[in-house]
Amino acid sequence: MDTRKYRFETRQIHAGLNPDEPTGSRGIAIWPTAAYRFRSCDHAARLFELSEAGNIYTRLQNPTTAAFEERIAALYGAVGALAVSSGMSAILVTVLSLAQEGDNIVTSPFLYGGTYNQFRITLRKLGIDCRIAPSEEPGSFEALIDEHTKALYVESMGNPTCAVADLEALGELARRRDVPLVVDNTFGAAGYLCNPFEWGANIVVDSATKWINGHGTSMGGVIVDGGNYNWANGKFPQIDGPSEGYHGLNLHEAFGAAAFIVKCRVDGLRDMGCCPSPFDSYLMLIGLETLSLRVRQEVESTRRLAEFCRLHPKVQSVSYVGFDTHPSHDNARKYYRFGSSAVFTIELKGTLESTVRFVESLHLAANMTMIGDSITVVTHPASTTHKQLSEADLAAAGVTPTMLRISVGLENVEDLIEDFEQAFTHVE
Ligand SMILES: Cc1ncc(COP(=O)(O)O)c(C=O)c1O
Repeated sequence: MDTRKYRFETRQIHAGLNPDEPTGSRGIAIWPTAAYRFRSCDHAARLFELSEAGNIYTRLQNPTTAAFEERIAALYGAVGALAVSSGMSAILVTVLSLAQEGDNIVTSPFLYGGTYNQFRITLRKLGIDCRIAPSEEPGSFEALIDEHTKALYVESMGNPTCAVADLEALGELARRRDVPLVVDNTFGAAGYLCNPFEWGANIVVDSATKWINGHGTSMGGVIVDGGNYNWANGKFPQIDGPSEGYHGLNLHEAFGAAAFIVKCRVDGLRDMGCCPSPFDSYLMLIGLETLSLRVRQEVESTRRLAEFCRLHPKVQSVSYVGFDTHPSHDNARKYYRFGSSAVFTIELKGTLESTVRFVESLHLAANMTMIGDSITVVTHPASTTHKQLSEADLAAAGVTPTMLRISVGLENVEDLIEDFEQAFTHVE
């Protein structure tokens, strides 16, 4: 079904929901199969040389996962999407599809800790230099770009500081320097809160584990291709040039605007093997059906809880993009529907020890490393997600010992406020 004419709330339910002819089932089936029978050896050969589309093996494609991919692409208005087994694998497959040994990517200081490690340690060992700009100002990105730069990379809202990148300015820089702009849009809730393609992004990656799934029940990631980058500029021979893995086939000539996402599937997934299970794709599809409702409610509760924390005497400071004191307030208003996400951070008065006591005294809010769950989560970044960073890098990423990241879930916000209130009594 072509859902392009419908609004987000309708697309999140109907895209990818193609009626099952034999059974009339409203639900999308889970296809628990590793492989698919070929009609003939000739049919198999056509599938393997990419001259015919079709299912070969679940590491490459699966009908349940295809429905999830179709829904994600429809939500973003993109040419295609690829589902993978986690957000980290979405980032890895994306970068390795763009860059190779000797290349570099230019990225922001406001990165999720896992991404930071992948960039600074793992990719560096593979010979890919990840250059971290001192700020998200386009000028500081531009100073690091050279002829080997294969991507600009930012998070639409940084984890955990909620720094919002100036997507339009970075999109303009990327266009001018002819480098693809890759945006981690995990906080943007599959385009509902923020759609980076509207501002010049070329590729989006999401941790589907978060708001897309929405219930903390499975891991997943997606890569989304805006189909709006000119791969024929001579910088990407792996996309517009003879493909080593497919007897010289030129992916750009064969697949046009969708060449990048095809490359991620037929080389990336084939070789790295980080495919999702059909069951997880099913959970993602179910999660997506209520995405806008959940996120809207969470954003509303976040504002209430952040306001409560701001007035509380045990709280040193609240960093919430919805407040005009946050450095990214204006960018959040420009790029994020409602000017906010469902995450904010607080710094408690007191010490690391009293911060730990606060976290351990909460009854409803769970002490976990998670965001985008229906359960409210309180995380201590300095001892968890950002533990691997040096003191200087922690400071650059805005992470302090008494800082807590709060991801607001779907509980009644009055109950959350009461839970925080009683936990604050344990802070000296
Ligand atoms: C912004 C961001 N990107 C990527 C990831 C990695 O996703 P996953 O945990 O699904 O591998 C996370 C995880 O928290 C994240 O917050």
